[in-house]
Amino acid sequence: MYKSFTFKTPSIVFGMDAINQVGIEAKKLNAKRVLFLTGPNVKKAGHGERVMSLLKDEQIETELSILERSTPEPTTDIAENTAKLARELKVDLIIGMGGGSIIDVAKMSAALLNNPLKVRDYFGKEKLPNRGIPTIMIPTTSGTGAEVTKHAIFLDEENGVKKAVASSNLLPDTAIIDPLLTVSCPAKVTASSGMDAFLHAAEPFLSKEANLLTDCIALKAIRLISKWIGPAFANGEDMEARYYMSLGSLMAGLVLNNSGTSLVHALAYPIGGEYHVPHGPSLTCILNSCLNYIKVAKQERLAMIAEAMGERIEGLSEREAAQLAIDAIRNLLVKLGLPTSLTDLNITDKSKVGKWAIDGYAEQRLLSRSPRVLSVEDIKTIYENAF
Ligand SMILES: [Fe+2]
Repeated sequence: MYKSFTFKTPSIVFGMDAINQVGIEAKKLNAKRVLFLTGPNVKKAGHGERVMSLLKDEQIETELSILERSTPEPTTDIAENTAKLARELKVDLIIGMGGGSIIDVAKMSAALLNNPLKVRDYFGKEKLPNRGIPTIMIPTTSGTGAEVTKHAIFLDEENGVKKAVASSNLLPDTAIIDPLLTVSCPAKVTASSGMDAFLHAAEPFLSKEANLLTDCIALKAIRLISKWIGPAFANGEDMEARYYMSLGSLMAGLVLNNSGTSLVHALAYPIGGEYHVPHGPSLTCILNSCLNYIKVAKQERLAMIAEAMGERIEGLSEREAAQLAIDAIRNLLVKLGLPTSLTDLNITDKSKVGKWAIDGYAEQRLLSRSPRVLSVEDIKTIYENAF
């Protein structure tokens, strides 16, 4: 009843042209020499030059590193090599600009400068003993929330499973969110990262770790994302849609960081790792099945989600309104061209279910927040219902 909680966030700079603050923010962190990590597309769009020129205006030296990768999630050695580079270059700040993967690499490599082991040694909850060097994160998609979270996700190549480092010591110092940077984000990524953001609000709202502060932010994030994801998907240059999607994604990231995701994210890991499915589709393909399974525990909250999504719930029973939320989410996924089942991803081999269930069950860091207690058998049923 009288729940205690903490609320952690980096400094946030949000707004159209917020990127212009990067030099000033770097100076506040006493930067003299920066490692600037970004991807080929961001560089092509000209944002890289802009950041470097803004840093130069503040007499800050910049070393640029363009990250290329061949898997949806970065591998651990990318973060380790980047940390090695940062050490050789003797930088005192790391800036990550791009999608979730680049931000995760930037966070982790900064941390590795003050923590002696390999990425693999820090998988799990609060295993990083020291904070890294200061960081500034600048997202170019609306969805991962990585700029305001303490998580970094990597592909552990040894066993082909995606794993997370979840530690307060990974939380960036500053997040600069500029909706104008998301204009070049392709429609498909807008849809999948937008629904990832939706889940960063909805999953914690349905979880055991929800609190009144994150509830308020989550419901507003759900409202914004449900309203604006369609327009942003349909026309990437709709600035009002980009503005509110960026804001919704930021808010969802804050909810994720402070109340945490649960079964959908946990059970997506084995699918994403084995089939190299990107994060967004790996979530949406099992979402309907997950929500149906926990509906019995969270009818009232699902009804609140339906209302936040703009559905009419007057005159409906709580059970009907809860089902309306699940149906509305499914309809939204279909409109956005996202998979709503494993079959939609051409994953048809049901003999794998037993192994996934064991791997999924191992994600207790997330499953411990599930509103319905889940055994390996329960998880098997969820996967079976997702074909
Ligand atoms: Fe996510």
